[in-house]
Amino acid sequence: MGEIVTVGVVGCGLMGSGIAEICARAGLDVLVGEVSPEAAMAGRRRVVASLDRGVRSGKLSEEDRDAALSRLTFSADLGDFADRHLVIEAVAERFEVKTATLATLGKVLRSPDAIIASNTSSIPVMDLAACTDRPDRVIGMHFFNPVPVQKLVEIVPTQLTSGHVVDHVTEFVTTRLGKTAIRAQDRSGFVVNALLVPYLMSAVRMLESGFASAEDIDAGMVLGCAHPMGPLRLLDLIGLDTAQSVAESMYEEFKEPLHAPPPLLRRMVAAGTLGRKTGRGFHRYDE
Ligand code: 3HC
Repeated sequence: MGEIVTVGVVGCGLMGSGIAEICARAGLDVLVGEVSPEAAMAGRRRVVASLDRGVRSGKLSEEDRDAALSRLTFSADLGDFADRHLVIEAVAERFEVKTATLATLGKVLRSPDAIIASNTSSIPVMDLAACTDRPDRVIGMHFFNPVPVQKLVEIVPTQLTSGHVVDHVTEFVTTRLGKTAIRAQDRSGFVVNALLVPYLMSAVRMLESGFASAEDIDAGMVLGCAHPMGPLRLLDLIGLDTAQSVAESMYEEFKEPLHAPPPLLRRMVAAGTLGRKTGRGFHRYDE
């Protein structure tokens, strides 16, 4: 299996834009897929804003920002991904959307060695791999938000993932992207969300029942346990729609009441108050 030089990232939302950014900063040739030219423009703006933030905080030179941007190309046609060595899927956390993307990628990729990775947070990777013509080349590669900041990637092989693919992707994550990799079994939620989701859902239930205010719940965990942000602010960062999908997948897998999205979360998603990305969630983001 050759070195991974050409990378594809499908989906350029919160997670996809971060993944595309770190790959471009690592010197890779990155093709980013979005559903339309407008969505691609919005994704590119997200990457530019994050790179500019790096420049402002003195972490990145202007030359390195420009070089990273020059390595990014956008396309609304998955057919353009034929020459990629690795494609990371980061589309919406919905089974039908992910399987449609992965099935197409399997058909399009020219090299039989090419790897398809999914950034799913909670959908069993085997269920996704089974929709492709190359389940042995499919693996979970789960990043954390904000991707340029969080140092972890969960590597999730299925029963059918080839050992070479696991080694290759782990080496890529650690050596090329400079992240720490941990190995998780293919169970909904993997390691981090298995611990995080019951905590986040409990915080929503605590607010919903009138037990404590949003401010006090968040202050409790920031000041009492030195978390960088409280659970409700973290839900706002993740996006309430994504958090609901993750919790639903985990509930579907384990039927564990602690995973079930509480009515308040569902109503907020229905209302379109999705957190930071819409300017309002458990807190307001007026800036
Ligand atoms: N892009 C690039 N850099 C960023 C960034 C972004 N989007 N957001 C923050 N940063 C950088 C800043 O430039 C800053 O760097 P500096 O210290 O060198 O100047 C540093 O990160 C800290 O940022 P800020 O000072 O603006 O803000 P905070 O100190 O409040 O940190 C935070 C913000 C990094 C988001 C921090 O609060 C945090 O780590 N929160 C927890 C996030 C978390 O738990 N993520 C995991 C979510 S779960 C998940 O993703 C899984 C999914 O499946 C649900």
